[in-house]
Amino acid sequence: MKVLVIGAGNMGLTYAEGMSKSKLLKKKNIMVLDKSEEKLKELHKIAHFDTFEKLEDCVPKADIIFIAVKPHHAINVFNTIKPLVQNEQIIVSIMAGVTIESIEELTGLKKIVRAMPNLPAQIGKGLTSFVVSDEVSRIEMLTVESLLATTGKSIQVSSEKLIDASTGISGSGPAYVFYFMQSMMEAALKMGFSKKDSTVLVTQTFAGAIELFNQSNISPNSWMEKVASKGGTTRAALDSMEDNNVNELIKEAAFAAFSRAVELGEEH
Ligand SMILES: NC(=O)c1ccc[n+]([C@@H]2O[C@H](COP(=O)([O-])OP(=O)(O)OC[C@H]3O[C@@H](n4cnc5c(N)ncnc54)[C@H](OP(=O)(O)O)[C@@H]3O)[C@@H](O)[C@H]2O)c1
Repeated sequence: MKVLVIGAGNMGLTYAEGMSKSKLLKKKNIMVLDKSEEKLKELHKIAHFDTFEKLEDCVPKADIIFIAVKPHHAINVFNTIKPLVQNEQIIVSIMAGVTIESIEELTGLKKIVRAMPNLPAQIGKGLTSFVVSDEVSRIEMLTVESLLATTGKSIQVSSEKLIDASTGISGSGPAYVFYFMQSMMEAALKMGFSKKDSTVLVTQTFAGAIELFNQSNISPNSWMEKVASKGGTTRAALDSMEDNNVNELIKEAAFAAFSRAVELGEEH
């Protein structure tokens, strides 16, 4: 099996590196194409995959083609690959807001996977949600799932609406966590801790809480109840959050990202 990644940017390289580190594919079976000659020269020196400058040299050889360019470059890429593709090839698009229907229309292909990664994919801790078109067989779906999971975890969803929804949860989600971290670091600084200690206090608290949660089988709510005794310090903080409606505001923020993902999809 040969995989081609079009677009050697943040995400394209993340997947190419992930696939190469996973040993699912040999170096010669991972092909990367970018329009920048300079970038390709650099990659050629260090990379664990073959690099290409011309579509005609790599598109016909690929079984699976990852499209990792920005959404506004999509039409240009699809127009140029259209004369080179064959029916059996699978397109995996990670472009936000570009629908399966538009990819089918622009390429003439029917085996399409639309995926939504997130930033921690860069360190192998990502979450990629994906949906497949009807023409993708179960074996093909499992193959793509394992390729996507080389950057973390991958989950199949049943509709493109859920891809937009996952943008609101896992896609944009790392920024919500950073927001919470930033607020806690600012509070720590205000309480008198140094910048360094504020960072350690907050990062270790996040890492520890997640690990604790992962090693248990109880819900976040149950954990909150466990740590918040009546009249205690944690209860005071949680009551303050409840009084300020923080729970609802976080949900509202996630839905704002979901709606924006839907809107962006309509623009393409
Ligand atoms: N970054 C994220 O966290 C994230 C999360 C979810 C989804 N995504 C999706 O991932 C996709 C890629 O994002 P990114 O952040 O990796 O973008 P990026 O860093 O800009 O990478 C895109 C690369 O593709 C190249 N390119 C553009 N047009 C091309 C063409 N016609 N042929 C070959 N290469 C071409 C670009 O070159 P130039 O720079 O010269 O234009 C650039 O090197 C986007 O569609 C985005 O929606 C990203």
